[in-house]
Amino acid sequence: MPDIRLEGVSKRFGKIAALQKVDFEMRDGEYVAILGPSGCGKTTLIKIIAGIWPPTEGQVFIDNRDITGVPIEERDLGYVFQNIILFPHMTVKNNAGYSPRVKGLSEEQIEERSRKAMDLVGVLEQQGYLPSELSGGAQQKASLARALASKAKLLLLDEPLSALDARVKVELRYALRRLVKDLGLTAIHVTHDQEEAMSVADRVIVMRKGEIVEVGEPTHLYDAPRNLFTANFVGESNFLEGTVHSVEDAKARIELRGEQILTIPRTTLRVGQPVVLAIRPEHLSLQPEDGDNSIQARVEESRFMGFYTRCRLRAETGDELLVDLPTSDARVREGTDSFVCFNPDFILLYPRPTEGLGEALKLE
Ligand SMILES: Nc1ncnc2c1ncn2[C@@H]1O[C@H](COP(=O)(O)OP(=O)(O)OP(=O)(O)O)[C@@H](O)[C@H]1O
Ligand SMILES: [Mg+2]
Repeated sequence: MPDIRLEGVSKRFGKIAALQKVDFEMRDGEYVAILGPSGCGKTTLIKIIAGIWPPTEGQVFIDNRDITGVPIEERDLGYVFQNIILFPHMTVKNNAGYSPRVKGLSEEQIEERSRKAMDLVGVLEQQGYLPSELSGGAQQKASLARALASKAKLLLLDEPLSALDARVKVELRYALRRLVKDLGLTAIHVTHDQEEAMSVADRVIVMRKGEIVEVGEPTHLYDAPRNLFTANFVGESNFLEGTVHSVEDAKARIELRGEQILTIPRTTLRVGQPVVLAIRPEHLSLQPEDGDNSIQARVEESRFMGFYTRCRLRAETGDELLVDLPTSDARVREGTDSFVCFNPDFILLYPRPTEGLGEALKLE
């Protein structure tokens, strides 16, 4: 039912532009994650969709109806607030049953809905407790239960899993997604955790400084981000500045600092063009000898991360490089020299940003 559309939505708090001309559309039944660093406007955006705040400019449509001025009580939605807000004098059970009670449902229906919601998020055993008697994680679960029991078609979740233990967090991610899909709900899930965003959503909206930088399916954002900021924020990448040296036989040769050359399959480049090359740590490897597409580097640090080992190297070009190796064949010693080999199929190229690379990647 809820197709959501935002047109030119801006929000200012005095001099702060929290949102700047945001346009965005989502379909009924979609699970969308809003991802971005702290202060980029995620909560502001979700509060405007909820009707808690009016936008300074622009309009919000649900099912093609302009609802910009409609208050939250009249928008049928379940909301999980970033700073968990439960009714402090009510037990978990009564918090969960709040919305069905306000809607005037029978005691039986209230009981059934709240029980189901509490069961789903795993707070059934704490149903008789007051919020003050619960851990932060359990309070967060109770507030999720309250939103789910509302049976609204639209769920707005602002950092709904932030207070939970890593393992519970991952379990609840899947439970949430399954629930939304099974019940045919529409969900907007705010997070600053890129892994959470990618694993839970159909599409991810990447935000920065009050603007939408890029929207895409998780695999697309990870494999082929259109924007440098996305390449840095969604997963990690190494960035190297270079210049197009030559283009021949469907291959471009990119000159890095220190006159190092990498050859990549690409034709649409202009000789002399300044570029930034990006590559993920798992697409670099180490070899003892020099070879094609490799540059010399010194291992400065190697860290065991479980199934992979993260190495930090200083390349001849002066760049710092992160390389992830499967732990089973990571035979590296700190302080030794090695050659970092670039897999050309996974190299991403971007025009060199006019504001400088550091500025383009900066989180705030
Ligand atoms: N009520 C308010 N009054 C004044 N400024 C505000 C208010 N709410 C938010 N802001 C400002 O608007 C900007 C966006 O804030 P918002 O809370 O939307 O960010 P966020 O992306 O949700 O951040 P976080 O990840 O830390 O929750 C920030 O600069 C913030 O300081
Ligand atoms: Mg927020």
